[in-house]
Amino acid sequence: MSTNDGTQKVRENGNGVELPPMQRLIPFENKEHNPESYEDMQLDYSPLLFSSLERYLPPNMLSLPRDRKVHFLSDILTRYSPQGERTRVQKHRKYRQQILSSYEPRHKEVYTMNAANFFVPSFLKAISENTEESFRSILVEPTPGVYTFEVFQPKFCEMLIDEVESMERWVHDRRFHIICPNTMNKYGVVLDDFGLETMLHKLMNDYICPMSRVFFPEVGGLTLDSHHGFVVEYGVNRDTELGFHVDDSEVTLNVCLGEKFYGGDLFFRGVRCDKHVNTESQSEEVFDYAHVPGRAVLHRGRHRHGARATISGNRVNLVIWCRSYCIDQD
Ligand SMILES: [Fe+2]
Repeated sequence: MSTNDGTQKVRENGNGVELPPMQRLIPFENKEHNPESYEDMQLDYSPLLFSSLERYLPPNMLSLPRDRKVHFLSDILTRYSPQGERTRVQKHRKYRQQILSSYEPRHKEVYTMNAANFFVPSFLKAISENTEESFRSILVEPTPGVYTFEVFQPKFCEMLIDEVESMERWVHDRRFHIICPNTMNKYGVVLDDFGLETMLHKLMNDYICPMSRVFFPEVGGLTLDSHHGFVVEYGVNRDTELGFHVDDSEVTLNVCLGEKFYGGDLFFRGVRCDKHVNTESQSEEVFDYAHVPGRAVLHRGRHRHGARATISGNRVNLVIWCRSYCIDQD
Protein backbone atom coordinates (compact mmCIF):
# COMPACT_ATOMS: atom_id res chain seq x y z
CA MET A 1 0.00 0.00 0.00
CA SER A 2 1.28 3.45 -0.83
CA THR A 3 1.08 6.48 1.39
CA ASN A 4 0.45 9.88 -0.14
CA ASP A 5 4.16 10.72 -0.08
CA GLY A 6 4.86 7.87 -2.48
CA THR A 7 6.65 5.69 0.02
CA GLN A 8 5.34 2.23 0.56
CA LYS A 9 3.56 2.00 3.87
CA VAL A 10 5.57 0.01 6.41
CA ARG A 11 4.38 -3.52 6.17
CA GLU A 12 4.27 -6.26 8.71
CA ASN A 13 5.11 -9.84 7.99
CA GLY A 14 3.44 -12.76 9.66
CA ASN A 15 5.67 -12.42 12.72
CA GLY A 16 4.81 -8.81 13.28
CA VAL A 17 8.34 -7.58 12.39
CA GLU A 18 8.41 -4.26 10.58
CA LEU A 19 10.12 -4.18 7.18
CA PRO A 20 11.87 -1.02 6.04
CA PRO A 21 9.84 1.37 3.89
CA MET A 22 10.41 1.21 0.13
CA GLN A 23 11.77 4.37 -1.41
CA ARG A 24 11.95 4.11 -5.13
CA LEU A 25 11.82 6.38 -8.12
CA ILE A 26 9.82 5.39 -11.15
CA PRO A 27 11.93 3.93 -14.01
CA PHE A 28 10.79 6.43 -16.68
CA GLU A 29 11.04 10.20 -16.79
CA ASN A 30 7.71 12.05 -16.60
CA LYS A 31 8.40 14.57 -19.36
CA GLU A 32 5.03 16.27 -18.93
CA HIS A 33 5.84 17.34 -15.39
CA ASN A 34 7.38 20.76 -14.87
CA PRO A 35 9.77 20.43 -11.91
CA GLU A 36 10.06 23.00 -9.16
CA SER A 37 13.17 25.06 -8.44
CA TYR A 38 15.13 24.18 -5.30
CA GLU A 39 17.69 26.97 -5.66
CA ASP A 40 16.60 28.78 -2.50
CA MET A 41 16.83 25.73 -0.21
CA GLN A 42 19.73 24.60 1.97
CA LEU A 43 20.56 21.22 0.45
CA ASP A 44 23.39 18.72 0.59
CA TYR A 45 23.28 18.27 -3.18
CA SER A 46 22.94 20.56 -6.15
CA PRO A 47 19.42 22.06 -6.35
CA LEU A 48 19.42 21.11 -10.04
CA LEU A 49 19.74 17.46 -9.09
CA PHE A 50 16.47 17.71 -7.14
CA SER A 51 14.74 19.39 -10.08
CA SER A 52 16.09 16.70 -12.34
CA LEU A 53 14.96 13.79 -10.15
CA GLU A 54 11.53 15.29 -9.54
CA ARG A 55 10.44 13.92 -12.92
CA TYR A 56 11.14 10.40 -11.62
CA LEU A 57 9.02 10.74 -8.48
CA PRO A 58 6.01 8.46 -8.09
CA PRO A 59 3.04 10.35 -9.62
CA ASN A 60 1.26 10.73 -6.27
CA MET A 61 4.22 12.72 -4.90
CA LEU A 62 4.37 15.38 -7.59
CA SER A 63 1.98 17.78 -5.91
CA LEU A 64 3.47 17.47 -2.42
CA PRO A 65 5.26 20.42 -0.78
CA ARG A 66 8.92 20.77 -1.72
CA ASP A 67 10.26 19.82 1.70
CA ARG A 68 8.50 16.45 1.48
CA LYS A 69 10.01 15.82 -1.94
CA VAL A 70 13.44 16.93 -0.70
CA HIS A 71 13.22 14.55 2.23
CA PHE A 72 12.30 11.63 -0.01
CA LEU A 73 14.95 12.39 -2.64
CA SER A 74 17.69 13.15 -0.10
CA ASP A 75 17.25 9.70 1.42
CA ILE A 76 17.75 8.13 -1.98
CA LEU A 77 20.68 10.37 -2.91
CA THR A 78 22.46 9.65 0.35
CA ARG A 79 22.37 5.96 -0.52
CA TYR A 80 23.57 6.29 -4.09
CA SER A 81 25.47 9.52 -4.72
CA PRO A 82 29.24 9.82 -4.33
CA GLN A 83 30.44 11.35 -1.09
CA GLY A 84 32.60 13.73 -3.15
CA GLU A 85 29.63 15.58 -4.63
CA ARG A 86 28.02 16.01 -1.23
CA THR A 87 31.28 17.30 0.22
CA ARG A 88 31.73 19.75 -2.67
CA VAL A 89 28.25 21.23 -2.24
CA GLN A 90 28.66 21.43 1.55
CA LYS A 91 32.06 23.15 1.19
CA HIS A 92 30.68 25.69 -1.26
CA ARG A 93 27.75 26.44 1.03
CA LYS A 94 30.16 26.98 3.94
CA TYR A 95 32.34 29.19 1.74
CA ARG A 96 29.35 31.39 0.89
CA GLN A 97 28.21 31.51 4.52
CA GLN A 98 31.68 32.67 5.58
CA ILE A 99 31.53 35.51 3.07
CA LEU A 100 27.96 36.51 3.78
CA SER A 101 28.45 36.53 7.53
CA SER A 102 31.31 39.01 7.45
CA TYR A 103 31.41 40.87 4.13
CA GLU A 104 29.78 44.28 4.49
CA PRO A 105 28.44 45.51 1.10
CA ARG A 106 29.70 48.94 0.09
CA HIS A 107 26.75 49.74 -2.20
CA LYS A 108 23.68 48.03 -0.79
CA GLU A 109 21.64 49.38 -3.70
CA VAL A 110 23.24 46.97 -6.21
CA TYR A 111 21.96 43.96 -4.24
CA THR A 112 18.31 44.67 -4.95
CA MET A 113 16.97 45.05 -8.45
CA ASN A 114 16.19 48.69 -9.09
CA ALA A 115 15.48 48.76 -12.80
CA ALA A 116 15.12 52.54 -13.12
CA ASN A 117 18.59 53.05 -11.64
CA PHE A 118 20.29 50.11 -13.33
CA PHE A 119 19.13 50.18 -16.94
CA VAL A 120 19.04 52.81 -19.68
CA PRO A 121 15.49 53.97 -20.59
CA SER A 122 15.61 52.51 -24.14
CA PHE A 123 16.28 49.02 -22.77
CA LEU A 124 13.53 49.31 -20.15
CA LYS A 125 11.04 50.46 -22.76
CA ALA A 126 11.86 47.53 -25.06
CA ILE A 127 11.50 45.03 -22.21
CA SER A 128 8.20 46.51 -21.07
CA GLU A 129 6.82 46.33 -24.63
CA ASN A 130 8.17 42.77 -24.82
CA THR A 131 7.93 42.20 -28.57
CA GLU A 132 10.51 41.15 -31.14
CA GLU A 133 9.97 44.50 -32.83
CA SER A 134 10.73 46.44 -29.63
CA PHE A 135 13.89 44.37 -29.01
CA ARG A 136 15.07 44.82 -32.59
CA SER A 137 14.59 48.58 -32.25
CA ILE A 138 17.36 48.78 -29.62
CA LEU A 139 19.81 46.11 -30.79
CA VAL A 140 22.04 45.25 -33.69
CA GLU A 141 22.80 41.74 -34.92
CA PRO A 142 26.18 42.20 -36.61
CA THR A 143 26.53 38.46 -37.23
CA PRO A 144 23.76 35.86 -36.95
CA GLY A 145 23.05 34.98 -33.32
CA VAL A 146 25.08 37.78 -31.70
CA TYR A 147 23.00 40.67 -30.40
CA THR A 148 24.44 43.88 -28.96
CA PHE A 149 22.57 46.67 -27.23
CA GLU A 150 23.00 49.40 -24.63
CA VAL A 151 21.83 48.12 -21.25
CA PHE A 152 23.40 49.69 -18.13
CA GLN A 153 23.61 53.29 -17.02
CA PRO A 154 27.21 54.55 -16.48
CA LYS A 155 26.44 55.14 -12.79
CA PHE A 156 25.43 51.53 -12.28
CA CYS A 157 28.60 50.30 -14.06
CA GLU A 158 30.75 52.49 -11.79
CA MET A 159 28.93 51.31 -8.68
CA LEU A 160 29.27 47.62 -9.58
CA ILE A 161 32.99 48.02 -10.31
CA ASP A 162 33.41 49.80 -6.98
CA GLU A 163 31.53 46.99 -5.21
CA VAL A 164 33.76 44.36 -6.86
CA GLU A 165 36.87 46.29 -5.76
CA SER A 166 35.48 46.34 -2.25
CA MET A 167 34.96 42.54 -2.37
CA GLU A 168 38.55 42.10 -3.57
CA ARG A 169 39.93 44.32 -0.78
CA TRP A 170 37.97 42.26 1.73
CA VAL A 171 39.44 39.05 0.27
CA HIS A 172 42.95 40.49 0.23
CA ASP A 173 42.79 41.84 3.80
CA ARG A 174 41.71 38.47 5.16
CA ARG A 175 44.00 36.41 2.92
CA PHE A 176 40.85 34.55 2.02
CA HIS A 177 41.15 31.86 -0.65
CA ILE A 178 38.67 32.99 -3.29
CA ILE A 179 36.99 30.75 -5.86
CA CYS A 180 37.84 31.96 -9.39
CA PRO A 181 35.04 33.08 -11.73
CA ASN A 182 35.47 29.96 -13.90
CA THR A 183 38.16 27.54 -15.07
CA MET A 184 39.59 30.03 -17.59
CA ASN A 185 39.46 33.38 -15.76
CA LYS A 186 41.74 33.78 -12.76
CA TYR A 187 40.90 37.41 -11.99
CA GLY A 188 37.47 38.54 -10.92
CA VAL A 189 34.74 37.55 -8.51
CA VAL A 190 31.76 35.19 -8.52
CA LEU A 191 29.01 37.67 -7.67
CA ASP A 192 26.61 34.91 -6.60
CA ASP A 193 29.03 33.99 -3.79
CA PHE A 194 28.96 37.57 -2.48
CA GLY A 195 25.21 37.90 -2.08
CA LEU A 196 24.19 39.03 -5.55
CA GLU A 197 22.52 35.75 -6.53
CA THR A 198 18.95 36.94 -5.98
CA MET A 199 19.46 40.19 -7.89
CA LEU A 200 21.14 38.38 -10.81
CA HIS A 201 18.41 35.75 -10.89
CA LYS A 202 15.86 38.52 -11.25
CA LEU A 203 17.97 40.12 -13.93
CA MET A 204 17.93 36.83 -15.84
CA ASN A 205 14.23 36.14 -15.31
CA ASP A 206 12.81 39.57 -15.98
CA TYR A 207 15.30 41.11 -18.41
CA ILE A 208 17.24 38.37 -20.25
CA CYS A 209 14.49 35.74 -20.60
CA PRO A 210 12.14 38.01 -22.58
CA MET A 211 14.86 38.39 -25.23
CA SER A 212 16.17 34.83 -25.13
CA ARG A 213 12.62 33.54 -25.65
CA VAL A 214 12.55 35.40 -28.95
CA PHE A 215 16.11 34.90 -30.16
CA PHE A 216 17.20 31.53 -28.72
CA PRO A 217 14.08 29.37 -28.25
CA GLU A 218 15.79 26.25 -29.68
CA VAL A 219 18.58 26.17 -27.06
CA GLY A 220 16.50 26.71 -23.91
CA GLY A 221 15.87 30.43 -24.23
CA LEU A 222 12.25 29.77 -23.24
CA THR A 223 13.15 28.02 -20.01
CA LEU A 224 16.24 29.67 -18.49
CA ASP A 225 16.09 28.79 -14.81
CA SER A 226 19.56 29.03 -13.24
CA HIS A 227 22.66 31.12 -13.71
CA HIS A 228 26.32 31.64 -12.86
CA GLY A 229 27.09 35.34 -12.47
CA PHE A 230 30.60 36.74 -12.27
CA VAL A 231 32.86 39.67 -13.06
CA VAL A 232 36.10 39.15 -15.00
CA GLU A 233 39.05 41.52 -15.11
CA TYR A 234 41.64 42.00 -17.83
CA GLY A 235 44.68 44.24 -18.14
CA VAL A 236 47.64 45.16 -15.97
CA ASN A 237 48.25 42.50 -13.29
CA ARG A 238 45.11 40.72 -14.46
CA ASP A 239 44.19 38.19 -17.16
CA THR A 240 45.34 39.41 -20.57
CA GLU A 241 43.27 37.41 -23.04
CA LEU A 242 40.89 34.47 -23.17
CA GLY A 243 41.34 31.48 -25.47
CA PHE A 244 38.86 30.14 -27.98
CA HIS A 245 36.03 28.38 -26.13
CA VAL A 246 32.31 27.80 -25.64
CA ASP A 247 30.53 28.77 -22.41
CA ASP A 248 28.93 26.46 -19.87
CA SER A 249 25.58 28.06 -20.60
CA GLU A 250 22.63 28.01 -22.94
CA VAL A 251 22.66 31.80 -23.28
CA THR A 252 25.37 34.25 -22.20
CA LEU A 253 24.99 37.93 -21.37
CA ASN A 254 28.34 39.74 -21.40
CA VAL A 255 28.36 43.43 -20.46
CA CYS A 256 31.43 45.65 -20.42
CA LEU A 257 31.35 47.76 -17.24
CA GLY A 258 34.49 49.78 -18.07
CA GLU A 259 36.98 51.13 -17.38
CA LYS A 260 39.55 52.66 -19.77
CA PHE A 261 41.29 50.06 -21.93
CA TYR A 262 42.68 49.34 -25.35
CA GLY A 263 42.17 46.01 -27.10
CA GLY A 264 40.21 43.14 -25.59
CA ASP A 265 37.92 42.57 -28.59
CA LEU A 266 35.66 39.54 -28.54
CA PHE A 267 36.01 37.26 -31.56
CA PHE A 268 33.19 34.94 -32.63
CA ARG A 269 33.55 31.92 -34.89
CA GLY A 270 30.14 30.29 -35.29
CA VAL A 271 27.96 27.91 -33.28
CA ARG A 272 28.97 24.26 -32.93
CA CYS A 273 27.73 21.16 -31.11
CA ASP A 274 30.06 19.19 -28.78
CA LYS A 275 31.15 16.87 -31.58
CA HIS A 276 32.21 19.64 -33.94
CA VAL A 277 33.45 22.26 -31.52
CA ASN A 278 36.92 22.29 -33.09
CA THR A 279 35.94 22.32 -36.75
CA GLU A 280 37.05 25.17 -39.01
CA SER A 281 35.09 28.40 -39.29
CA GLN A 282 33.44 29.59 -42.46
CA SER A 283 34.31 33.13 -43.56
CA GLU A 284 30.75 34.32 -42.83
CA GLU A 285 31.13 33.16 -39.21
CA VAL A 286 34.13 35.38 -38.50
CA PHE A 287 33.16 38.41 -36.44
CA ASP A 288 35.07 40.65 -34.05
CA TYR A 289 33.38 42.91 -31.50
CA ALA A 290 34.93 45.90 -29.71
CA HIS A 291 33.56 46.32 -26.18
CA VAL A 292 31.78 49.53 -25.25
CA PRO A 293 31.12 50.23 -21.55
CA GLY A 294 27.44 49.80 -20.69
CA ARG A 295 26.76 47.76 -23.82
CA ALA A 296 25.74 44.08 -23.73
CA VAL A 297 26.50 41.17 -26.00
CA LEU A 298 23.92 38.37 -25.92
CA HIS A 299 24.77 35.05 -27.59
CA ARG A 300 24.30 31.29 -27.36
CA GLY A 301 26.74 29.58 -25.00
CA ARG A 302 27.71 27.28 -27.88
CA HIS A 303 28.68 30.23 -30.07
CA ARG A 304 32.47 29.79 -30.17
CA HIS A 305 34.38 32.84 -29.05
CA GLY A 306 37.41 34.24 -27.24
CA ALA A 307 38.86 37.57 -26.12
CA ARG A 308 41.89 39.22 -27.67
CA ALA A 309 44.58 40.73 -25.48
CA THR A 310 43.72 43.84 -23.50
CA ILE A 311 46.83 45.79 -24.46
CA SER A 312 46.60 48.65 -21.99
CA GLY A 313 44.38 49.84 -19.16
CA ASN A 314 41.85 47.65 -17.36
CA ARG A 315 38.71 46.05 -18.67
CA VAL A 316 35.96 44.77 -16.37
CA ASN A 317 33.03 42.71 -17.68
CA LEU A 318 29.93 41.30 -16.05
CA VAL A 319 29.09 37.85 -17.41
CA ILE A 320 25.92 35.88 -16.70
CA TRP A 321 25.82 32.31 -17.91
CA CYS A 322 22.12 31.46 -18.13
CA ARG A 323 21.17 27.82 -18.05
CA SER A 324 18.09 25.76 -18.69
CA TYR A 325 17.42 22.61 -16.75
CA CYS A 326 15.34 21.19 -19.63
CA ILE A 327 18.21 21.50 -22.09
CA ASP A 328 20.76 20.04 -19.64
CA GLN A 329 18.71 16.85 -19.63
CA ASP A 330 18.50 16.40 -23.41
FE1 LIG B 1 32.98 32.94 -22.80
